[in-house]
Amino acid sequence: MQFQYVIYEKSERIATITLNRPDALNAFNKDVVEEILKALEDAKNDEKIRVVILTGAGEKAFSAGADIKTMKGFDALKARELSLMGEKLCSAIENFEKPVIAAINGYALGGGLEVAMACDLRIASDKAKMGQTEINIGLIPGWGGTQRLTRLIGKTKAKELVFTGKMIDAKTAEQLGLVNMVVPADQFREAVRKFAMELAEKAPVALRIAKALINKGADMSLDAAIALEREGFGVVGSTEDLQEGVSAFIEKRKPVFKGK
Ligand code: CAA
Repeated sequence: MQFQYVIYEKSERIATITLNRPDALNAFNKDVVEEILKALEDAKNDEKIRVVILTGAGEKAFSAGADIKTMKGFDALKARELSLMGEKLCSAIENFEKPVIAAINGYALGGGLEVAMACDLRIASDKAKMGQTEINIGLIPGWGGTQRLTRLIGKTKAKELVFTGKMIDAKTAEQLGLVNMVVPADQFREAVRKFAMELAEKAPVALRIAKALINKGADMSLDAAIALEREGFGVVGSTEDLQEGVSAFIEKRKPVFKGK
């Protein structure tokens, strides 16, 4: 598979997609987005892959967001198109049937943070900086930032970040619940991989259904979401992996899950 703007690697059960435009701080353009979607499609169809990691090349950035240079001479239709492009990427990640981890190795700004927020889990290097900085160029978040950020950290802090466009450090992001954990930069790649390997050993069907329930249920009434959970529980309850997990517990050994 040929890529120009991403590096796509598969090793053991993990696929890693690395945004690879370090000279532009891994800013997104149409080609970058298309290549990520292509890599995701491969990871989806590869039964061996259990977890996807999304990260940025170079030491400086996960991604500094949408490519600002493409916004010169913008009009309403082009802006809407850019919004749709990011929305397509973010929903592909959010609806992806395997866990996606954003490994935030540096700046995650504007669309960069929005894509990271569409991932299931976010691990940040202690050098990372995050922000919805669009307001500084006279813009607003357009890839779900006003919504996903609010759902993740609440209206008060979301408004503060979106209105001021300020950047926060990794520690602050962790305190706000925006990232799951912060890891020293010199241990970052190994820590992300170790965490991904941990998930890769879990039962795939249970992970897939848990992800869908948490994502979909958040926008439903509690009653409807609980009813959906019951049905999901039924499906997971019928898997071979559950029987393997129960047997492994009784036999005091580690389970080996097959995704069946
Ligand atoms: N788009 C295009 N190019 C970008 C970029 C972006 N979002 N961010 C950085 N770059 C480019 C710079 O233009 C520069 O390229 P040149 O060397 O060709 O000039 C290169 O990356 C390195 O950047 P800097 O020289 O600016 O590096 P720095 O260390 O001085 O500053 C920074 C780093 C604070 C992240 C700064 O680059 C910056 O503020 N970038 C813009 C961040 C931003 O506002 N992102 C939001 C974009 S809009 C958006 O994403 C909308 C949406 O919701 C989808």
